[in-house]
Amino acid sequence: MNGHKAGQREPLLSASANYRLGLCLAQEAAELLHHCSDWLTDSERAVLDSLKTEKRRRDWLAGRIAAKRALGEGQPKDIEIANAESGRPYAELPGGRKMNISISHCEAGGLGAAASSVIGVDWEAIRTQTPAVIGYYATAREQESLRSPEDQIRLWTAKEAVFKLLSEELNHDLREIELLAAGKLSLSGQALKRWEKLGRPSIRLDHGVYAGACISVAYI
Ligand SMILES: CC(C)(COP(=O)(O)OP(=O)(O)OC[C@H]1O[C@@H](n2cnc3c(N)ncnc32)[C@H](O)[C@@H]1OP(=O)(O)O)[C@@H](O)C(=O)NCCC(=O)NCCS
Repeated sequence: MNGHKAGQREPLLSASANYRLGLCLAQEAAELLHHCSDWLTDSERAVLDSLKTEKRRRDWLAGRIAAKRALGEGQPKDIEIANAESGRPYAELPGGRKMNISISHCEAGGLGAAASSVIGVDWEAIRTQTPAVIGYYATAREQESLRSPEDQIRLWTAKEAVFKLLSEELNHDLREIELLAAGKLSLSGQALKRWEKLGRPSIRLDHGVYAGACISVAYI
């Protein structure tokens, strides 16, 4: 995969009517860490320089490059990606137009999504989780449907994606976001309040597997 040139549109993992996904693999991000002036604004560069560990710098950069690829507009270094106080990322395009984005990183690299409405993505390596971890995020009803490590990580990423879409004013109880049969969502507590505040939109979920890791996209 060659994606080193800033402004290049690839690699774009997917384009749909509702959102676009961009990718930056870990190896590429590691190579670009010291040659990223074509990708970052001055403020982004300052954030990168303030990050403590090499891993965090690589993950952070991979997420920014992936999101800028997903946006697919203008020159990457003219797009500013920042985080709101909640941690939610957003992009500001030249001229001040704001775009909804979401970012995730895992061992394989960074994943970014862009949409005209709120969006959430998560990308997580498939592995077996302990019952204690599963109990932390899955309701008893959901636990009954988990047959494999892929089932577990798909459920986990789905919830993290919906969490990122709903984003603000949430506590961190992922069991407030429950996945029922046939991909239907049931929300409770803060997640329900936030959804009502957003105007009770119909939240949809897409899933995939890439580089041995589950991807979930929550969108409207
Ligand atoms: C915020 C959270 C969703 C991040 O998910 P993660 O799996 O740890 O990490 P990911 O790589 O997938 O995502 C990180 C990105 O999420 C985004 N993010 C952070 N807070 C966010 C928020 N409130 N809303 C939307 N996106 C957010 C950021 O863009 C961040 O990347 P950046 O700091 O480089 O910009 C997660 O830590 C969290 O708090 N989840 C709530 C439920 C929970 O408790 N989960 C268990 C955590 S152990």
